[in-house]
Amino acid sequence: MYGMVNSGIRSMVLDQYGENVWQRIVARVPNCPDEFMRMESYSDDVTYGLVGAACEELGVEARSLLHELGEYWIPYASKAGYAVLMERGGRSLPEFLQGLDAMHSRLALTYSSGEEGGRWPSFRVTDVSDASLRLHYYSQRQGLQPFVVGLLHGLAKQFGTTVEVELIEGREMHSDHDIFLVRYSA
Ligand code: HEM
Repeated sequence: MYGMVNSGIRSMVLDQYGENVWQRIVARVPNCPDEFMRMESYSDDVTYGLVGAACEELGVEARSLLHELGEYWIPYASKAGYAVLMERGGRSLPEFLQGLDAMHSRLALTYSSGEEGGRWPSFRVTDVSDASLRLHYYSQRQGLQPFVVGLLHGLAKQFGTTVEVELIEGREMHSDHDIFLVRYSA
């Protein structure tokens, strides 16, 4: 995964738990640097290793850490130089989610294609109404659904709304992707 994601984990741990905790987490992950080049590609082992080590160190489950990371990611990306991209992403949550693939594609052009390259996720929006939509999440990686749920909560905060997110169909249920029902208040 690109260093941007590992940097997000690092920044969240430093902000919320401090330098000592971060150093203890890094020490648990083999071959893990303690700083990352945001646009360089790192083995997914580093990212999953950091999540696993953080869970052990903090005594939390991966799903709650990933959820927290998703919520943290929205203001973090803005601070990391992507404020304009985030602002131009849409005027409402549904509009933003509809433009998410285009946003990741624009980002992909600016990131190094490196040895591992990026394996960007893909999102499709269907069944949009005033109160809900379905978000289809395609990924080559496992276990990141709680990250998506956290991201949706972070986005809702940005748009001054609240969301309830329910995984209504998942890859565990023989589908090739996950489908979230996202309910929001106007
Ligand atoms: C300006 C804001 C954003 C930036 C800079 C950004 C950047 C990135 C980067 C660099 C990756 C790693 C790609 C790879 O190494 O394969 C990634 C992955 C991901 N992004 Fe974004 N992203 C942004 C916004 C969002 C938003 C709003 C969502 C909301 C759903 C999102 C969902 C994801 C997910 C779920 C992944 C995990 C990859 C996977 O499933 O395989 N991103 N993003």
